[in-house]
Amino acid sequence: MTTPQSWEARADEYSFYGFTDLPSVHQRGAVVLTHGEGPYVFDVNGKRYLDANSGLWNMVAGFDHKGLADAAKAQYDRFPGYHSFFGRLSDQTVLLSEKLIEVSPFDHGRVFYTNSGSEANDSMVKMLWFLHASEGNPKRRKILTRWNAYHGVTVVSASMTGKPYNEVFGLPMDGFIHLTCPHYWRFGQEGETEQAFTQRLAQELEDTIQREGADTIAGFFAEPVMGAGGVIPPSAGYFQAIQPILKKYGIPLISDEVICGFGRTGNTWGCQTFDFTPDAIISSKNLTAGLFPMGAVILGPELSDRLQAAAEKIEEFPHGFTASGHPVGCAIALKAIDVVMNEGLAENVNRLSPRLEAGLRAIMDRSEHIGELRGVGFMWALEAVKDKPTKTPFDGSLSVSERIANTCTDLGLICRPLGQSIVLCPPFILTEEQMDEMFEKLEQALNKVFAELA
Ligand SMILES: Cc1ncc(COP(=O)(O)O)c(C=O)c1O
Repeated sequence: MTTPQSWEARADEYSFYGFTDLPSVHQRGAVVLTHGEGPYVFDVNGKRYLDANSGLWNMVAGFDHKGLADAAKAQYDRFPGYHSFFGRLSDQTVLLSEKLIEVSPFDHGRVFYTNSGSEANDSMVKMLWFLHASEGNPKRRKILTRWNAYHGVTVVSASMTGKPYNEVFGLPMDGFIHLTCPHYWRFGQEGETEQAFTQRLAQELEDTIQREGADTIAGFFAEPVMGAGGVIPPSAGYFQAIQPILKKYGIPLISDEVICGFGRTGNTWGCQTFDFTPDAIISSKNLTAGLFPMGAVILGPELSDRLQAAAEKIEEFPHGFTASGHPVGCAIALKAIDVVMNEGLAENVNRLSPRLEAGLRAIMDRSEHIGELRGVGFMWALEAVKDKPTKTPFDGSLSVSERIANTCTDLGLICRPLGQSIVLCPPFILTEEQMDEMFEKLEQALNKVFAELA
């Protein structure tokens, strides 16, 4: 309940919320937060929540990592802001680009900075358009992605995103083509093996390229594991089946690692977990462990060399943001990479992800209404179904995942409803005890909601 002077009422009065279920937030009140400790956040009323979504996938080192805050403070004292235009840039920006290439799967390459993942995807698309036009292929402008992909919200990245909600904006723009989502459990046909499903998707890709004309396609973007589409790992052999086709037609493969990058899937990059080498990587979120808005386009050797040649031809690449390569963001990112890779966080993900999977699988096995558990590393989703054997979903009007997530919130656990799934992507610092707290509260919420719906 909100009173007129409450934080919740004031939040409602002045906030134009994005991606927020308005009837639910008006009824329940927003959760207004003041601070965090480890994987927990605290609201204005002193209530503690275990944030099993790491904020928005990004606060991987928790909400009070002193080393990260100190790195930010030190850089604010030293050199608090600068850009990267006109051949002037901060030393921290140089150091971070060096580091990103060092930890990337590429033996050389170059890095371009943005303020967000959406802008990094937009920038990559502009790079591809610029490159193809410069190389005498101005018709190569179409972008291939998949249904259920999430690549962001700016006009181009929203066009890449494969979600029906973008129809309210009249998107996608022309020239953005969405292929079948590689989710075997949901989209496999009756009697079709997983291998045959993967082959069908590879054939669809080749048919699409031939129908549209390879000389009209600029690039193919894919998340190694679809994140905001509902944590969907690719079907077995997916990237191994599609990459040769893309190579055959000279279409660059861009790995959108905004969620998967820096440890979420158990390796530094999701493309390593799924064993493919892309032509470029899009990074954000974990890049600064959530402490600074920053995105990066990490170009592999071939794209880097070709783009550099294209830019030299007209003397510049006419694109950039005021805060591209911000020194404070770069200093934080340098520290965040060190924290994730060298302070035991990546190790913790590897050590505890089998335990996380086993705990969630046990919850699924005990529940009549969890149809699928899917994920890898520290990113998982449980999909609610009305009927397990037939995978029949609940009626959309029941808002089953919102109910589960709201019940979790009441119990002091933050998790995210996505379609009919509940997403769990905890910070990398999670302990076994905290994981057990998560399991307990989640199962309590599932039992309560499914009992109400019975
Ligand atoms: C895979 C992926 N790409 C791009 C984005 C967009 O990033 P941002 O919200 O920073 O614009 C997201 C955000 O969740 C994402 O998950």
